[in-house]
Amino acid sequence: MRHMCALAAFLLVPGCGDGGGGSVRIGVSDELAGRSAERDGYTKPLGAALRVEPARDDRGYLDQFATTFTSMTPENEMKWETVQPRRGEFEFGSADALVAAARRTGKRVRGHTLVWDQQLPEWVSEADWTPRELAAVMRAHVRALVGRYRGRVAEWDVVNEPFDADGSWTESVWYRVLGERYVEIAFRAARAADPDARLFLNEVGAEGPGPRARALRALARDLRRGGVPIDGVGLQNHTAIGSHPSRARLLRNFRSYARLGLDTAITEMDVVIPPGPAPRDGLEQQARAYADAARACRQARSCTGLTVWGVNDRYSWKGPGQRPLPIDVKGAPKPALAALRRILEP
Ligand code: XIL
Repeated sequence: MRHMCALAAFLLVPGCGDGGGGSVRIGVSDELAGRSAERDGYTKPLGAALRVEPARDDRGYLDQFATTFTSMTPENEMKWETVQPRRGEFEFGSADALVAAARRTGKRVRGHTLVWDQQLPEWVSEADWTPRELAAVMRAHVRALVGRYRGRVAEWDVVNEPFDADGSWTESVWYRVLGERYVEIAFRAARAADPDARLFLNEVGAEGPGPRARALRALARDLRRGGVPIDGVGLQNHTAIGSHPSRARLLRNFRSYARLGLDTAITEMDVVIPPGPAPRDGLEQQARAYADAARACRQARSCTGLTVWGVNDRYSWKGPGQRPLPIDVKGAPKPALAALRRILEP
């Protein structure tokens, strides 16, 4: 049966429930769905990465998400190791639960991520593939995942973090076996699986100038010129006070992609406050970093939204001590949240 369900999920045959992953339910009350609907008035989507466990178990977390943000990115639940831990066995339970909760609270969904070298199971990264086999594995994964949420995901991070900091290609299994054309294969498969989803190339540490930013822009340009179906470039913008990219820098970056006919998005922003500055001052500097990004996004017509990487400091992947998010460990709004709201409200 398990085999049959795995095969059914693979072929997208309905009736196998969550695709063999066990179902997860995030309870959204009518009252919360109602209050959430009031939060719709930003000029650009303001998103957060959401995790299934606290969304299910921590009422405050779900409440903060639903009443503050207008877009949702699953933080880990659509990654390869979660969705296809063994070859041909798909587990969509957690992703389904997040997408259902987002729809019930009226949020846009960003899908994250299809092809990446991390959170990739060893059956993919460690095997001895021929190019033809690995391309088939990639296409089947993309078809199953993108196809399952067809019509429900506005934007997909199709390829994540293709470059190292020095601008060279990351030596992933994808690059080793398929070469640069792995990117094109991924985008074409995603377009075929959902022609209406907007397809993004997502990268870390490419907000400012430097070799990785140059490599990313050159790749985006070549993909566009080559007719590969790419719609946008995601800048993660994981940053810290004292070193965050300025509004002008981000705007220049957005516009350089707009000239290629590409949208942009801030996809994973957080702003670490390292130990040092007086606590109040740290929060103000952090608010300025968020404000700069929000202003740049609001100013550039091609910027499709700003997503922060977590709902509150308590669940940040950086650890609560880094205080990187606009809501604190106790669930209270920080100056950063006030700044984001002020800038993104009409
Ligand atoms: C992170 C998650 O936040 C963590 O929970 C997980 O353990 C590792 O991945 N760039 C990305 C995201 O594209 O997927 C990463 O998310 C953070 C860096």
